[in-house]
Amino acid sequence: MAKKLYIETVGCQMNVLDSELVVASLRQRGFELTSFVEEADCVLFNTCSVREHAEEKVYSALGRLKNAKRRHPHKVIGVIGCMAQNHQRTVFERAPYVDLVVGPGQLHQVPDLIDKIAAGAGPQLEVSLGRKDGSRELVARSHESFDPLRDPAMRPTPFQAYVRIQIGCDKFCTYCIVPSVRGPEQSRPPEHILAEARQLAADGCKEITLLGQTVNSYRYRGAGGTTRLSDLLYALHGIAAIERIKFVTNYPKDMTDDLLAAVRDLPKVCKYLHVPAQSGSNRVLQRMKRGYAIEEYREMHARIRQWLPEAAVTSDFIVGFSGESEDDFQQSCELVRECRFKNSFIFKYSVRPGTKGAELYADDVPEEVKRRRNNELLAIQNQIAEEDNGRFLGRQVEVLVEGPSKASLRRTADEPVQLVGRTMCDRIVVFDGNLRQVGHTLPASVYDANAHTLFGAVVTQHVGPELFTLTS
Ligand code: SAH
Ligand code: SF4
Ligand code: F3S
Repeated sequence: MAKKLYIETVGCQMNVLDSELVVASLRQRGFELTSFVEEADCVLFNTCSVREHAEEKVYSALGRLKNAKRRHPHKVIGVIGCMAQNHQRTVFERAPYVDLVVGPGQLHQVPDLIDKIAAGAGPQLEVSLGRKDGSRELVARSHESFDPLRDPAMRPTPFQAYVRIQIGCDKFCTYCIVPSVRGPEQSRPPEHILAEARQLAADGCKEITLLGQTVNSYRYRGAGGTTRLSDLLYALHGIAAIERIKFVTNYPKDMTDDLLAAVRDLPKVCKYLHVPAQSGSNRVLQRMKRGYAIEEYREMHARIRQWLPEAAVTSDFIVGFSGESEDDFQQSCELVRECRFKNSFIFKYSVRPGTKGAELYADDVPEEVKRRRNNELLAIQNQIAEEDNGRFLGRQVEVLVEGPSKASLRRTADEPVQLVGRTMCDRIVVFDGNLRQVGHTLPASVYDANAHTLFGAVVTQHVGPELFTLTS
């Protein structure tokens, strides 16, 4: 009988991709997925360490498994991903019934380690070297990019896939744990990326999203010279079945003109750029060691607008970073008003032990001030998003239909299905339709909008013998 695997994933797209790959490798060993933790032979948590809250939630979830493990001692419980690398043995100390702790650079070992545990070998810990545990090369080698077989069953949808082009990060922003848990920045060889994308296309994939912590810093030095992200976009653009190409996350300083030109000139590349600013104040940016002054961010943003006037630009902000004054915060508000981001993810600073920020600076902005700043910045951002989405009223957009919306789950059987999809500039569109439309790119006419969503109707008019569709 097939063994059952339950997996829960938190964190960024990198983790979603890692979970897909872990599941693919375990399915090859006879596991099948279940959505019920009670019946699972193996329970995995793929974890994130970027904020304390994300870690605490995993410990709470582990706490809830304590009794189940007592009743079923053969259930294998594993913590994989960034928190496994960050906490290592501490996971066993805080939850002694955990069997498996595996960092993101060691995921290829998961199937063998589960077999070992099942054979009675006891708890297993596999992590990569820390940033100070050896030469850069040695540490880099201990963080292996895990890129084996793909598994359509675990993708956002069968026709959308993440493709890793880079692992790790070398920027060392003072607040951020990612460089410690994901290791040195390493770019994947372009021929591996292209082979994977071709395979995905052959499997029916229409949209690929290239992943890297600083994806536009991608550089691969090979025998044929240096490959940049722009070169990669040109090469991927040649794969006929791929309709859309996206890439996240961009680092402001590496937003070079060759990249903007590629985004402008390649019709399949989404006019959507996620380029986190983090703060609008030079004093804060300096303490964050972001590596740019706000004037440089503004200059980059103006360049994007010049090359790609219609592009959607999005950002991340941290509020309440150590030493952030009211005036610093107001400069973040000003930047949002000026750049008119399509959306911004806003986070309250969470001090991360092991980072330079934790070592050098006090976490001195009170929680209620962080919360107020978060709400204030979000309100400004939402107002802008609503105004900008309003510009789409009456316009037609191309929507890649992803599936039924959350709201449609609440509808009755005789109501139409509400579908959700995205435009080329990453805007969410919902409309009434038919499940047959999932996976297709359709023109939709927008009749309503709020800060987060465009409401549309699919435009298909049967005129004469041909299906005539209006396009945007
Ligand atoms: N590599 C990406 C994002 C990494 S983490 C980049 O460089 O932009 C995603 C977001 O989490 C960051 O952009 C930042 O806004 C936020 N973040 C990272 N560390 C944080 C911390 N210690 N506290 C609060 N937010 C944090
Ligand atoms: Fe973290 Fe900065 Fe690297 Fe992004 S660029 S992952 S915020 S250290
Ligand atoms: Fe979190 Fe690791 Fe991603 S810390 S944000 S899951 S790289």
